[in-house]
Amino acid sequence: MLALGKCVFATVLVAAVALTVANAAPLQARLSRNDEPAFCRSLDCPRFTVVNRTDTYEVRHYSASQWARTQVESANYTTATAIGFQRLFSYISGANVDVKHIPMTAPVTVQVYPGSGPYCKSTFTVSFMVPFAFQPNPPKPASKDVYIESEPAHTTYVTSFPGFAKEKDDIGHAEALAQALTKDNIAFNSTVYYTAGYDSPYQLFNRHNEVWFYAPGATQE
Ligand SMILES: *[C@@H]1O[C@H](CO)[C@@H](O)[C@H](O)[C@H]1NC(C)=O
Ligand SMILES: *[C@@H]1O[C@H](CO)[C@@H](O)[C@H](O)[C@H]1NC(C)=O
Ligand SMILES: *[C@@H]1O[C@H](CO)[C@@H](O)[C@H](O)[C@H]1NC(C)=O
Repeated sequence: MLALGKCVFATVLVAAVALTVANAAPLQARLSRNDEPAFCRSLDCPRFTVVNRTDTYEVRHYSASQWARTQVESANYTTATAIGFQRLFSYISGANVDVKHIPMTAPVTVQVYPGSGPYCKSTFTVSFMVPFAFQPNPPKPASKDVYIESEPAHTTYVTSFPGFAKEKDDIGHAEALAQALTKDNIAFNSTVYYTAGYDSPYQLFNRHNEVWFYAPGATQE
């Protein structure tokens, strides 16, 4: 009974996320930026430089930036991501002390901090960067579930892949990335991995997804 209830709840949320992302996208079209990768879809996107590249991954240096984040504890990635996204979407839709409408940015990232044991809850931190116009002074979230965090400049190891990313795709690519880094003798923070999604559910073609590991000492709180 409880399990069924949870499933129905999650399905509704996923549908809501699909709708809100699709609605948000056209508003951003005019904020075109030509100094960033095409996969940013002309949304504001954290600035980085590629410092090395192999067949499996890219090494990126990211600049410092401010992010809106929320944490969800759950045994289910899909449910947690939907709940987290909805909270952040409320924040940018006016649930902030200035009642400002804040443009969407790309990507939506999820930090996965696995729980110990097969059925333990993991901690999912869903985030997106505050747009450049609001970086100097991000509006304070109205909800205590949402917080602003300043992320220092850091190095990230990135694997990109196309299509509709399912959790098992993210895990598969994260494992392959971890193996490649280990083979290349590159130290990384294996406590957590990140997924980064750049597209709304209505973008059918040319979809771009990433998994990330951070260099040690650079991971967010
Ligand atoms: C997580 O929830 C989604 C949506 O309800 C469901 O389709 C999926 O099977 C669940 N995953 C796991 C591992 O229970
Ligand atoms: C780039 O990666 C290759 C393969 O791991 C490595 O041999 C090379 O030293 C790296 N170069 C830099 C500048 O990190
Ligand atoms: C690895 O990431 C976790 C989670 O953000 C953090 O608590 C820990 O300090 C990081 N460890 C290193 C060596 O960077």
